Formats: sequence, structure tokens, C-alpha cells
Amino acid sequence: MITKRKTALITGASSGIGKELAANFARDGHDVILVARSEEKLRLLADELQAQYGVMATPIVADLESDDGAAELFKEVKTRGLSINTLANNAGYGSFGEFRESDLQRELAMMRLNMNTVVILTKLFLPEIIAARGKIMKKAFVLSFSEALASELEGAGVTVTAFCPGPTASGFQDKASMHDSALVKNKKLPTAEDVAAGGYRAMQRGQRVYIPGIINWLMAQSVRFTPRNLVTRISKSFSKPV
Ligand SMILES: NC(=O)c1ccc[n+]([C@@H]2O[C@H](COP(=O)([O-])OP(=O)(O)OC[C@H]3O[C@@H](n4cnc5c(N)ncnc54)[C@H](OP(=O)(O)O)[C@@H]3O)[C@@H](O)[C@H]2O)c1
Repeated sequence: MITKRKTALITGASSGIGKELAANFARDGHDVILVARSEEKLRLLADELQAQYGVMATPIVADLESDDGAAELFKEVKTRGLSINTLANNAGYGSFGEFRESDLQRELAMMRLNMNTVVILTKLFLPEIIAARGKIMKKAFVLSFSEALASELEGAGVTVTAFCPGPTASGFQDKASMHDSALVKNKKLPTAEDVAAGGYRAMQRGQRVYIPGIINWLMAQSVRFTPRNLVTRISKSFSKPV
């Protein structure tokens, strides 16, 4: 009997949570398509996962904050004759500091990566994911989009998980220049390995929203019952340098 292998495409697989997610998929016998800009890191990870778990690991270099990065990635996957059942939209970064002082081009590039790319990849890969009754993972930035899509795809056998990590030890803090923020300074942050393992399990369960850590979960719940202006004041106090 021929069984079709499961293939997961993970964006931002070169480091942090994405790298650990890729290891979870490979450990469970999925072939993996590893996507990011750092070619060498992707190649090393692909070799490691292939050797350790005997799965096919395909590194694909893509800049997903460029205008046509997502469409080019889809084309490249098809050129290689691959199809996926799982899309883990993990690539992304944050911006720390006052909006009025931030660089607009960087903000726009971040939005292309965190939002446009997620929508484009989901749109392009959706037919094959539906056909495979597969899975999609999104991050907190696109929570509303994710919840709406989860509802829309309920009858199609596809689950959509919004994965909303709290502060996690990874390259994220460097890129957002947020080491002085009250959110992370002098705090022992959970490892990308643990956070990714929890996100992976939530996705496999088909959980709609996954927030790792009881404190993060309680904070997210408290937002529902707290006036919006108080919520923004609290987040501002967390974002200030200490
Ligand atoms: N760590 C936290 O505290 C935290 C909290 C909440 C949410 N998150 C979210 O979790 C996700 C993973 O972040 P992380 O914490 O694991 O940080 P990380 O270690 O910095 O990893 C980010 C990944 O995204 C990739 N990436 C960045 N820009 C890209 C681009 N233009 N094109 C393609 N890939 C790109 C990076 O690879 P290359 O540089 O090689 O391209 C890297 O693999 C992000 O979406 C982040 O916003 C993180």
C-alpha cells in the first residue's frame, strides 16, 4: 500500500521557535521544507534532520518580506514537484520602541512579513492543504484572521491554530532591540524548544488558539475583562526600558 508522506513547510526555520518546530515535525516523520534567508543555517538543519530522523528535508532560501517573496516561494516549491499538508507561518519579527521614532520602511517590511506573506502563503497553499485535510499555524499578529479562517474551514477538515508565544529566549529580542524592556529584563524566559513543542502539540490537537505558559494565558484572558485604555497603558509600561 502506498501511503502519501506528510510534508510540513516551516517559515523562519533557520533559528529559534521555527527551527524547533521543524525538529518536532521531523521527529514525527514529516518531510520538511525549511524556509528562511540564511542558506547555510537551513542547509545544516536539513542535513541534521535527515540524518537524525530519516525524513526528506528541503531547504529553500526566500526573503519573505520582499514584495514577491511569498509567491516566489510557492513557485519554487512547485518547481521542485513538492506539495504540503501543513503550513507553519512562523517567520516574523517585532519592533520595539515608540512608533513615532521607528523607521517606516522597517515597519512596512515587518508588516509584509508578519501579515501579507501569511495571507499569500495561506491562499496559495490552501487548495492542497484542504485536499490533504491538513493543518495551518499562524502567530498572534494574525489572530483574528486565524480565528475567522478556522471557523470557515471547520467543515473542510482543516484545523487552524493561532500560536501566540509570550516572551521566549531566541533571536527575537536582538532583532527588536528589546533587551531593556520590562518584559524580558532580568527574566528567565522559556526556551524556544519548549515553546515550539507546546505549539506543535496544540496544532496536532487542532486547538484554535494556543498561548504557552499560565502567566501569558492569564494575561491574555485578563485583557477581555479590562478596559482597552488600561490594557494599552499596561502594555506601554511593559515596553518601557527599565
Ligand atoms: N521570541 C519571542 O519572545 C516571541 C514572542 C511572540 C512571538 N514571537 C514570534 O515567533 C516567531 C519566531 O520568532 P523567534 O522568537 O524564533 O525569533 P528568531 O530566532 O529571530 O527567528 C525568526 C525566524 O524568522 C526568519 N525570518 C526573519 N525575517 C525573514 C524574512 N524576511 N524572510 C524569511 N524569513 C525571515 C529568520 O530567519 P532568517 O533571518 O534566516 O531569514 C528566523 O528563522 C516570529 O514570528 C516572532 O514574531 C516571538
